[in-house]
Formats: sequence, C-alpha cells, structure tokens
Amino acid sequence: MSKLIVANWKMYLSPKDSVELFGAVAKKSKTVICSSFIALNQLSALAKKSGIGLGAQDCFWDNRGAYTGEVSPLDLKDLGCEYVIVGHSERRNYFKETDKMVGKKVKAALVAGLTPILCVGENESERKKGKASARVEEQLEYALDGLGKKLRAEQWIIIAYEPVWAIGTGNACDPETAVKMHQMIKEKIAKLISVKNVRVLYGGSVDDKNIASYLKNTEIDGALVGGASTKKDVFMSLLAVAAKF
Ligand code: PGA
Repeated sequence: MSKLIVANWKMYLSPKDSVELFGAVAKKSKTVICSSFIALNQLSALAKKSGIGLGAQDCFWDNRGAYTGEVSPLDLKDLGCEYVIVGHSERRNYFKETDKMVGKKVKAALVAGLTPILCVGENESERKKGKASARVEEQLEYALDGLGKKLRAEQWIIIAYEPVWAIGTGNACDPETAVKMHQMIKEKIAKLISVKNVRVLYGGSVDDKNIASYLKNTEIDGALVGGASTKKDVFMSLLAVAAKF
C-alpha cells in the first residue's frame, strides 16, 4: 500500500496563504490537504486539477438543523471534500468533544460519503500511568462501535494515532513505540469492523527529517502532519521523502 500524507493546516494559514501553498505543492506522493473551512471553496478547483485530496478539519454530526456555527458533512462533500478530520485532540481539549460526539461525527461523515480521519491518542499522564493502549482502545470503541451497517464495501476509514504529548511539541513519539501502538490499533479495528479499507497514520511532530523513520515500517501507512506541512520548503522536502516509499 502506498503511503498517505495528510496535511493538517489547522488555523495557521489565511485563505490567501492556503491557495498559494496549495498551488505550490506538487503531487509527489498520495497527499491530502485539510485546510480551514473558509479556504475550502477556493481550494476545491485546485484540488480537482492537481489530484491532491481535499479535506476539512472537523464537521458536525448532522446534515441540517439549528446548530449555530456548525458545518454540515453534506455541504463539505458538495464543496469537493473527500476527507474530514474527526476528533482531533485540539477539538477534544479546547472544545470538550467527547468520545461519544466523535463517534457520531465519524458516522455522519461516512453517511455523507466522506472518508473520516479519526484521531486517537493518549495524553502524557495516561502514557505515564501505562494506560496508553487502554485509552486508545476506548476511543476506537466509541468511534467505531455499531458502524457495520453504515459502511459500504468501498469506503475507507483512516485512523491517525496522535499521542497528545507529541503534537506541536517537537517531541515526536519514537518509531518503535508508534509501531506497537499501530499494531494494537489494527488488531482492535479488525475486531470492531469488517471493513478492509483501513489506513493507520502516525501524527505528532512529524517533519522532513523524521518522516522516513515512520514510513519505513509496514505497520505505519502514512502520516498526519501539522506545523511542518504549513512551511513550503519543509513540506516539499517531506513529500519528496514520502514518495520514495
Ligand atoms: P504537528 O501536529 O505535526 O504540528 O505536531 C499534528 C497534528 O496535530 O495533526
């Protein structure tokens, strides 16, 4: 399976900067860019031309209704998105998204025909207490439980293993630990859903220098890249490394 690189541009770039960077990114490996909501409309035409996948960074769990400020998965699909990040730790921490809410979003995304990029990962204290695997298993159970009927055979689910302590800190998870977590995640998923099309990505302080140490492992199907994907030179060099795998 070719490796997938997903860029999470968070709220780093203005729509103007997003269009500029998107235009500069040459498709070297399988790449998806998740921009801010307000840049998506402009990026949609570029995405079609370039073959780079387009994604949002969140969505609501219903398609229509009295939900002030929320964004419908159906509208994201109509806009040209194929992917949506769900349950990122920044949403869980700052906006108190619970495992249950994240589960509803995963289902809504799938029903709308989007590929969810479900983020899971333990925080520092959970890792120190030896509860990393248990926490991630719990997140997977909530997010994927009862999915069976919602899935069509051709649909994909992407899981991003992102230990919270590694996100934006420069303190990336060592590849051996990441591999063990990926193995555990894949075993757990096989018990929860029957779908074959699953990728598990690593995320947390990935850059052009360390990307190879993750991608060389067969258990790691790609990476979710935040800060490093917003700097043109670093991102281009990261994609060039990824294209070799
Ligand atoms: P980072 O973020 O690469 O800046 O650590 C990753 C993420 O939050 O998806």
